Parts: sequence; structure tokens; C-alpha cells
Amino acid sequence: MSKTIVIVGASRGIGRELAIRFSSDSNNRVYALSRYREAPEPDEFSLYPNITPVVFDLAQDDTRIKAERFFDSLSNIDILINNAGKLVNRPFTELTREDFVSSYQVNIIGVMELIQAAVPKMLPKGGHIVNISSMGGFQGTVKFPGLAAYSTSKAALASFTELFAEEYKETRIKMNCLCLGAVQTEMLEEAFPGYEAPIDAPEMAEYIHEFAENAHRFMNGKIIPVSLSTP
Ligand SMILES: NC(=O)c1ccc[n+]([C@@H]2O[C@H](COP(=O)([O-])OP(=O)(O)OC[C@H]3O[C@@H](n4cnc5c(N)ncnc54)[C@H](OP(=O)(O)O)[C@@H]3O)[C@@H](O)[C@H]2O)c1
Repeated sequence: MSKTIVIVGASRGIGRELAIRFSSDSNNRVYALSRYREAPEPDEFSLYPNITPVVFDLAQDDTRIKAERFFDSLSNIDILINNAGKLVNRPFTELTREDFVSSYQVNIIGVMELIQAAVPKMLPKGGHIVNISSMGGFQGTVKFPGLAAYSTSKAALASFTELFAEEYKETRIKMNCLCLGAVQTEMLEEAFPGYEAPIDAPEMAEYIHEFAENAHRFMNGKIIPVSLSTP
């Protein structure tokens, strides 16, 4: 069956591997959103004819309007994966207002605004929204210095998952949240230089792909740790 999949934060790391994995089913239509701010090759996904790269920045004042404009071109959305993340690693007293605002904008406010735009495209047929949070945003786990802006905004994403699921429980839209442990990506290297994670991006993408396809048949509003280790 043909599916429409939207992945936000798909230019590198886990999101890129997810887009490629979903594209292995030629019936799927995959939309890979990110800023592409470092201007990678324009043909980055050209080997995959069913992946459409889309320039989209979650850090805009009019994120909802821009998302509505883009989603207007889609008849429906079956799977939406909110994988984009902004990480600031700085001692607490050195964090600026801009650090707080930009972290919250990308990791929670922009995500909620994009979901507001996606809901009308998911209500008729139903679908699964998967939010990618972090073990740093999972209550009771070990925490790390420098990540106050990042981890609190990821905790908000987890909390939002429960709230949305409650509000939409009578519909066919299901939402769950995965709190990832360490995965070897550029973001991890920026946060914990030199640390070697036990899982790489293709392996984590394999898990998220399976989860996004199937888990909403069994759960809704769940916050799930997916971690072999945290640094
Ligand atoms: N790697 C880990 O160990 C780990 C652990 C816990 C949680 N996570 C979470 O897992 C997710 C993926 O992590 P990753 O390690 O693969 O990260 P990554 O390599 O830094 O990739 C993040 C993606 O988000 C996109 N992005 C960033 N800011 C954006 C914005 N304003 N608007 C739209 N897209 C934006 C980036 O593309 P552009 O820069 O081109 O926009 C990129 O495609 C993130 O949410 C992260 O917080 C990762």
C-alpha cells in the first residue's frame, strides 16, 4: 500500500538514514525536510527517486503557515517523524537567551506548530506521529552538564506527546515519543567529542522505521527510552 511519509530533520544523521530506509519500499513517497543550511549536493537524494528533499526551517516565526503551505501539496500524511534537533552544549550560567529560545523553537515550539498544520492531513485516514526526544529529556535518567537548554526542551517534547495523545484519543492519529540514547552521529560528536556510541545512525533508523510503521497499532501517547548507553 502506498504511504506518504514526512521526516523533519533528514539531511544527515538518523533522519537521513530513515529517509533512505523508508524509500526502500518503492510505493512510499518520502518527504525529507531540513534547512540544508550547509548546502550539500543538490542531488543528495537523487539515487532515491521516491525521496523528495524539501527546504524547511523549524526556526521561523511563521512555521505553522509555512508548514500548511507545504502540506497543501499532499493529499494525506501516513507517518510524520519529528527528528530535527538543536543541541547547545554550554555551562548553565553561560547560556544566553538566544540559546534558550532557539533550542525551544526547534525542539518543541516549531514541532508543535508543524503538527498543527499536519493534523488536517492525518485526521481522515489516521496515521502515526513519532517524536524523537532524548534520554536527557526522560525523567529519572542520568543527566549531563551543559545540556540544560537542550534536555529541558526535549523533556517538553516528551510531555507534549502525552498531551496530544489525550486530546486526539478519539481519532485515528496516534503519537508516540522515542527517547534515544547515544547514537554515533555528528550531533553526538558535537555534544560528547571522542565518545564512541554502541549504535550508529543506520541501526537506529532500522528501529525507528519499524516502530513508525507498526507501534501505533499497540500504543498511543507513550514515552519510550531506546538506549543501550548514555555517555
Ligand atoms: N545522536 C544521538 O546520540 C542522539 C541522542 C539522543 C537524541 N537524539 C535526537 O535524535 C535526533 C536526530 O539526531 P542526529 O544525531 O541524527 O542529529 P543531527 O545529525 O544533528 O541531525 C539533525 C537533523 O535536524 C535538522 N535540523 C536541525 N535544525 C533544524 C531546523 N531548524 N529546521 C529543520 N531541520 C533542522 C538537521 O538538518 P539541517 O542542519 O540541514 O537543517 C539534520 O538533518 C535529534 O532530534 C536528536 O536530538 C540524538
